[in-house]
Amino acid sequence: MTERGARRTSGLTAPEEGGHPVKLERLKAETAAAMAGGGKERVEAQKAKGKFSARERLHYLLDEGSFQELDLLIKCQGRDFGLQDKPVPADAVITGFGRVNGREVCIYAQDFTVLGGSLGLAHAMKIAKVMDLAQDNRVPCIGLLDSGGARIEEGVDSLDGYAHIFRRNVKSSGVIPQISVILGPCAGGAVYSPALTDFIFMVQGISQMFVTGPAVVKSATGEEVTFDGLGGPQAHAAKSGVCHFVAQSEPDVFRQVRELLGFLPQNRWERPPRVANPDPVRRATPLMEMLCEIDPKKSYRVHHAIWQIADEHKFFEVHANFARSVVVGFCRMGGDVVGIVANNPGHMAGALTIDASDKAARFIRFLNAFNIPIVTLADVPGYWPGVQQEHGGIIRHGAKLLHAYAEATVPKITVILRKAYGGAYIAMNSKHMGSDFNFALPSAEIAVMGPQGAVEILRKRDIAAAKIPEDKLALAAKLGKEYADRFANPYQTASTGSIDEVIEPSQMRIRVIRALRFLKDKRKPGEHVNRGNIPL
Ligand code: HXC
Repeated sequence: MTERGARRTSGLTAPEEGGHPVKLERLKAETAAAMAGGGKERVEAQKAKGKFSARERLHYLLDEGSFQELDLLIKCQGRDFGLQDKPVPADAVITGFGRVNGREVCIYAQDFTVLGGSLGLAHAMKIAKVMDLAQDNRVPCIGLLDSGGARIEEGVDSLDGYAHIFRRNVKSSGVIPQISVILGPCAGGAVYSPALTDFIFMVQGISQMFVTGPAVVKSATGEEVTFDGLGGPQAHAAKSGVCHFVAQSEPDVFRQVRELLGFLPQNRWERPPRVANPDPVRRATPLMEMLCEIDPKKSYRVHHAIWQIADEHKFFEVHANFARSVVVGFCRMGGDVVGIVANNPGHMAGALTIDASDKAARFIRFLNAFNIPIVTLADVPGYWPGVQQEHGGIIRHGAKLLHAYAEATVPKITVILRKAYGGAYIAMNSKHMGSDFNFALPSAEIAVMGPQGAVEILRKRDIAAAKIPEDKLALAAKLGKEYADRFANPYQTASTGSIDEVIEPSQMRIRVIRALRFLKDKRKPGEHVNRGNIPL
């Protein structure tokens, strides 16, 4: 039988000879129109701002050839202000699923070249669809945002569209990782979808987030500020704390997102991927011996301690520019992912502040939701004093840190490097907060308060009785030393069992890894977790 004959008998007929495959042509034409975005001129304008197109962004972020698009041919629902006559390709957002390092993710990328990436009803429903897919299939959801906000022509439909998204952000919170990458403007209420996600990335020179723009600010308060000064990466990374990561360029941001995903499980029922590496588990940490011997009044960056214990000395810091007296981030120890929470004596002596408490508490809650053990490194003189801190709510914010540690059921290990005074000793995951293992270095000073402060209260009368100022100072110093010898060391605490062991500094890495391995099955992924990662 001829090939033609075979097709006839199977019921399939080829187009007439010399004719066109009409249906296929239509698909190609519809697809091409939708793929064109806002057209050549607007794409060039996007490039002129130093920005990639939405499709280029997907290409950079996802594994090659892995992207599967959905709803490319959706139509704009708006019927007013001329929208009915305008082409609105893909309704200004590209949605679908793809892979990052071989692992599935759901993703959307707003297309600023189409109506400024503004969000209308169909646009919102496309995003809602991939958010639902992400939740149902237990994979992370990533948003690439570049939008003028609510599509003005669609009125309240676009506001309702945001509500659909916010509700899904909350439903997915603590269930799947949610990541927002701000790659252009993000204005008005639109900022609240990223704010409900776990991590926000911004890029120098192109990203902005604000609830009300510079013009409204000027008319309301008289303050003059640029877009970047108001809502650029520096403002949000260092001051407001909205932004967790700042990148120098778009390729840089996609590299960072891929790296972050490598530390995360796909969902709350899984553990983060284990990655074997050549760094020996038994590697000694000699630098910790030096750190142990330095003058207690001297500062140092706690990063040095983290690099010592981390696999291959690698630490992926989160919120690096915000509330720097506390350092948080991810590393691997013995191949397994851990979250680090550490006081940083290199900034404000490592004290706990309002912002530092919020930063640490939210990170701890993320770790707990996603089955990542918490390693705490304490070197904390206390809470930062002052009217601004007290009236700003250090009590309220500090309580979040206590709450986060106490509720966390993942493995929790604390190492006291040096100071652990007063309430801050407890707040940095002390034994009776429910920590699994608490170690101290020989340099640890664990007490109700620092020696000088203690003797000035306890021996106030004796010091006051000294006749000349020099005598007062000498007596205070002598009494302070006596107090320090008695209390400002780890042995008093070790004698009561409030720390499990005073460890050799050079053994810190192996001791922590050994403890982590013992605790590996402490909690099965997904158990005991039914809380979202509320923005704190
Ligand atoms: C419809 C919009 C739009 C919007 C921009 N465009 N924003 N169309 N609705 N919200 C269109 C412009 O008309 C223009 O179309 C194209 O997008 C590019 O915009 P430009 O202004 O030319 O670009 P640029 O100079 O780069 O300025 C970008 C911008 C500015 C800063 C974002 O467009 C802007 O201020 N837009 C409005 C922002 C805003 O106030 N949004 C509403 C926020 S309130 P043409 O055809 O000329 O290319 C909100 C509420 C959400 O979002 C509530 C959720 C609960």
